[in-house]
Amino acid sequence: MKTKAILLALSLISLGANAQGLKDAVGKYFLIGAAINVNQSNGNDKPAADVIKKHFNSIVAENCMKGECIQPEEGKFFWKDADNLVKFGVDNHMTIIGHCLVWHSQAPHWMFTDKNGKYVTRDELIKRMTTHIRTLVSHYKGRVHGWDVVNEAFNDDGTMRQSLYYKIIGPDFIEIAFKEAHKADPKAELYYNDYSMAKQGKRDSVCALVKRLKAHGCRIDAVGMQSHNGMDYPDLKEYEKSIDAFAACGVKVMMTELDINVLPSPEHFGGANVSDRFAYNKSMNPYSNGLPDSVAQKVTQRYLDFFKIYYRHRSQISRVTLWGVSDRGSWLNNWPIPGRTNYPLLFDRQYQAKPVVKDIIDLFNK
Ligand code: XIL
Repeated sequence: MKTKAILLALSLISLGANAQGLKDAVGKYFLIGAAINVNQSNGNDKPAADVIKKHFNSIVAENCMKGECIQPEEGKFFWKDADNLVKFGVDNHMTIIGHCLVWHSQAPHWMFTDKNGKYVTRDELIKRMTTHIRTLVSHYKGRVHGWDVVNEAFNDDGTMRQSLYYKIIGPDFIEIAFKEAHKADPKAELYYNDYSMAKQGKRDSVCALVKRLKAHGCRIDAVGMQSHNGMDYPDLKEYEKSIDAFAACGVKVMMTELDINVLPSPEHFGGANVSDRFAYNKSMNPYSNGLPDSVAQKVTQRYLDFFKIYYRHRSQISRVTLWGVSDRGSWLNNWPIPGRTNYPLLFDRQYQAKPVVKDIIDLFNK
């Protein structure tokens, strides 16, 4: 009888642990978030919304706040999807992150050219860029907690990306963007966000940028390490080095777009340049009928390696955001090769938590 009671108590305790969401454990130290899509925030995808509410205390828009979505024509703002997302976040007491104000990719198609198709002048582009920033940041003032102000301004070797913002305005487009965002909502946090952040060239340039922005009196609260990781990249030591380096510049560190690509990488692939495309072939899609247990265990271990780093560096980190909720909706099913079956997130295609979720919860409860 006594043994039965003990067993019952033990199973209730373990049920209790299962009932915990990631945010109940990880959230003791920093925000834990997910990028969400339009169906998830407008109520059409209830199973996903339930997972988001249980496990995450922060959200970011996967696409609907990007330039091409929110200002598809000059002066015509399309607010509906982003407003729904912000309402979902506010209703569920989540910390809402805005992504992103200035990015060469998914920029509005009209941004850089005049009606004759010629590139606009520096002054005109500054005007267009600042109007975009001012309009978005004021619209969500007091509701969006922090913004990715500039996304991906550097190449992996640390040189400046030759984007149209850079070519037309010059390197000070970054500073102008930060100043304008701060003016529009002085209380909002402001971030610089990029991929391949464990590479030395990028690390050094981003550190120099943070110092320069601070020296010029700009607000910058955190550096976002996107963390589109793979099974054998980045090098974990280099990744930790970057966390320390950014923190040493006097900003918080955020993992803003975490996922782990478990599929083979095409030759010459690296980073997370969304315009990279490689042709499909069957050998690059080995797990279309399911992930073998032996591989799944390696992915679990790889996730734990990252979360152990986050735990160790918890005083330097203010947020970890997964780039999606379940494997079903991950962008990595179609990038950099279209039509693959990938397994990069913490919830499977049926929205069930993978075993690693409990391991992460245990790690942060210890
Ligand atoms: C991706 C989205 O997930 C896709 O749906 C979209 O087609 C392309 O962009 N770096 C970023 C994110 O900052 O905005 C990108 O999101 C992934 C890489």
